[in-house]
Amino acid sequence: MFVESVVRWGTWSILLHFGLFGVFAGGCPPRCVCQPEAKEVICSGKHFNSVPEGFSSDTRRLDISHNRIKTVGRRQFSGLADLQELDLSDNLISMIEVEAFQGLQNIRKLRIKNNRLKIIPVGVFSGLSSLRFLDLSQNEILVFLDYTFKEMVNLQMLEAGENDLVFISQRAFFGLQNLQELIIDRSNLTSIPTEAFSQLQSLTSLNMHRLTITTLPNNAFKRLPRLRRLVISNWPALDTIATNSLIGLNLTSLVIRNCNLSAVPYSALRHLVYLNFLDLSFNPITVIQGNLLGDLLRLEELHLIGGSLQRIELGAFKGLVNFRMLNVTSNQLTTLEEGVFHSAGNLQVLRLDKNPLACDCRLLWVVRRRLRINFDGHQPTCFSPDAVRLRKFRDFAEKELPKLFTCRPASILDRRPQEARVEEGTTVLFSCKADGDPFPSITWVSSLKNAVSPTGRIRVLPNGTLEVRFAQVQDSGTYQCLASNAAGNDSLTVSLYVKGLPRNRTIPVFLEEGWVEPPNPQAANTSAQMAKPYPFDAKTLIIATTMGFLSFLSSVAICFVFMFFWSQSKGQIKHTATIDFVPRSSMGGGGGDGDGGRFTMKLI
Ligand SMILES: *[C@@H]1O[C@H](CO)[C@@H](O)[C@H](O)[C@H]1NC(C)=O
Ligand SMILES: *[C@@H]1O[C@H](CO)[C@@H](O)[C@H](O)[C@H]1NC(C)=O
Ligand SMILES: *[C@@H]1O[C@H](CO)[C@@H](O)[C@H](O)[C@H]1NC(C)=O
Ligand SMILES: *[C@@H]1O[C@H](CO)[C@@H](O)[C@H](O)[C@H]1NC(C)=O
Ligand SMILES: *[C@@H]1O[C@H](CO)[C@@H](O)[C@H](O)[C@H]1NC(C)=O
Ligand SMILES: *[C@@H]1O[C@H](CO)[C@@H](O)[C@H](O)[C@H]1NC(C)=O
Ligand SMILES: *[C@@H]1O[C@H](CO)[C@@H](O)[C@H](O)[C@H]1NC(C)=O
Ligand SMILES: *[C@@H]1O[C@H](CO)[C@@H](O)[C@H](O)[C@H]1NC(C)=O
Repeated sequence: MFVESVVRWGTWSILLHFGLFGVFAGGCPPRCVCQPEAKEVICSGKHFNSVPEGFSSDTRRLDISHNRIKTVGRRQFSGLADLQELDLSDNLISMIEVEAFQGLQNIRKLRIKNNRLKIIPVGVFSGLSSLRFLDLSQNEILVFLDYTFKEMVNLQMLEAGENDLVFISQRAFFGLQNLQELIIDRSNLTSIPTEAFSQLQSLTSLNMHRLTITTLPNNAFKRLPRLRRLVISNWPALDTIATNSLIGLNLTSLVIRNCNLSAVPYSALRHLVYLNFLDLSFNPITVIQGNLLGDLLRLEELHLIGGSLQRIELGAFKGLVNFRMLNVTSNQLTTLEEGVFHSAGNLQVLRLDKNPLACDCRLLWVVRRRLRINFDGHQPTCFSPDAVRLRKFRDFAEKELPKLFTCRPASILDRRPQEARVEEGTTVLFSCKADGDPFPSITWVSSLKNAVSPTGRIRVLPNGTLEVRFAQVQDSGTYQCLASNAAGNDSLTVSLYVKGLPRNRTIPVFLEEGWVEPPNPQAANTSAQMAKPYPFDAKTLIIATTMGFLSFLSSVAICFVFMFFWSQSKGQIKHTATIDFVPRSSMGGGGGDGDGGRFTMKLI
């Protein structure tokens, strides 16, 4: 048996040529399959309860997966100096002794996936300085201790997913100076292990899945200068990306999927000028705002599928000259206007399917390019109007388009002049109703050309009516209602004259958030009268002060008077009894013959 086991692969291959393979099974551990030419030993799924022995010393690849091995002993694989790959996956390993892999000086890949490891003592991985790939996923590891990986200077990829990690010690990744990719998945970490990550100077790709963290705090990824790809996915509680959370990073690809973001984190992304791939899919984001992504100069692709997108505002991708792919399938978009893009002509791939699209003039540009744009095998489909409902863009004939993809410009319905002459303090309404297809949006502009907001004293109501509450003299002037849709604009001007009232009458004060103190000095005068800064006037104040001072003086005086009587009575008890009765009479009958001491007590 011993002799057989030391037979070299060279001999094996000669035997193989003679068709004798299998006969000479001695150099191979029983139950294993050996492939001498490939220098492979496969002991997978053979019901081993412990690591088999008797491998040929020039074995390059050893597969002991799918067994029932529970422990790996110290220097278990010594003598396999040529081993390049070792697979211990799918066993029941709960214990690996220190220096278990010592001697494997050429090993490149080590898989210990799907076992029962809870803890990895420091020193387990000693001697693995050639290792490039380590898979520790699907174990039950709770912590990574300091220096766990310290000798693995050549490790490039670490799979640590699907463990129960609650903590990664600050120096756990010490020594992993060449690690390029790290995967963490389904762990119970409660915060980003910023300090531990900062040891990973070569890290280019970081993947973190299924964490319960709610916030990406500022400086979460400091000192990861080479990181280019960051994937954050399935963090169902993540709803906050702090403005400086990604600072220090120079990413080309960022994925924040299946989280709880309700808005695109514009300010956190701003500095990522090399970013070309952005995926924010499966977040409850409702709008991509205009002109806020312009700093992402090199952005080529945006994926925001399965969100709650209702609008992509005009200018959303302005400045993005390289933008070529938009994947917004499965949202609530009714349209996508050409003005969203910096240059719609550069768009190559567009996924717009599974959105309730309104097929009007706003989508004409897409349907016109329907043969040039790549819809990735999923044609957009009309949802409205009813005449074209459920028709695919591909199925429209060119000559139908001018009739079908149409809009009716916005027009204001009641164009009668509106003019209001009111007294100060009155509330005034100006209506503005418009029609068109798509339904026009209504904005109001003041005579100073400022848009009126939906909140404040002067505001636009949801039905488009302009409301001026508690009119002030300075509100006088003209206001313009603008009704606009993709097909055209309409406008209407109204006038307001507010008459000032004599200053002797009170005007109702309107207090609400959003009321900015009027700059008009007259009004300032009014409000100064209305809301006095102090609860008393000057007279009250003087009286109060005087009274306070007087009462102080009188208490001091009374004190002196009492002290005077006391010292008098004390002196008389010693020497004379002539005016002794004066204080005693004040003590009433019961006291009788009270001495000086009792008297003093009473006084106090
Ligand atoms: C990790 O979280 C899961 C789910 O919340 C829980 O079942 C498990 O016990 C936690 N593990 C540890 C080690 O805390
Ligand atoms: C996601 O955010 C919403 C409110 O923004 C909150 O009601 C919900 O509980 C959050 N989901 C999770 C899983 O935290
Ligand atoms: C950022 O990354 C890009 C792309 O990898 C690279 O060309 C650029 O030099 C990097 N910039 C800095 C400051 O590291
Ligand atoms: C767009 O998203 C869908 C849904 O995830 C995906 O299947 C598809 O591959 C994406 N398309 C492109 C071009 O990336
Ligand atoms: C608009 O709404 C306001 C308050 O809801 C109402 O008073 C006004 O009559 C409405 N105007 C029109 C034109 O419907
Ligand atoms: C409507 O007005 C907006 C600005 O208010 C302008 O950008 C747009 O070009 C106008 N549209 C038409 C059709 O006149
Ligand atoms: C306010 O002043 C006007 C004259 O300026 C006077 O006629 C009116 O009676 C005054 N009202 C009150 C409430 O004092
Ligand atoms: C403020 O009110 C005083 C009297 O109450 C008046 O003399 C003064 O002119 C007012 N200031 C302005 C700027 O109206």
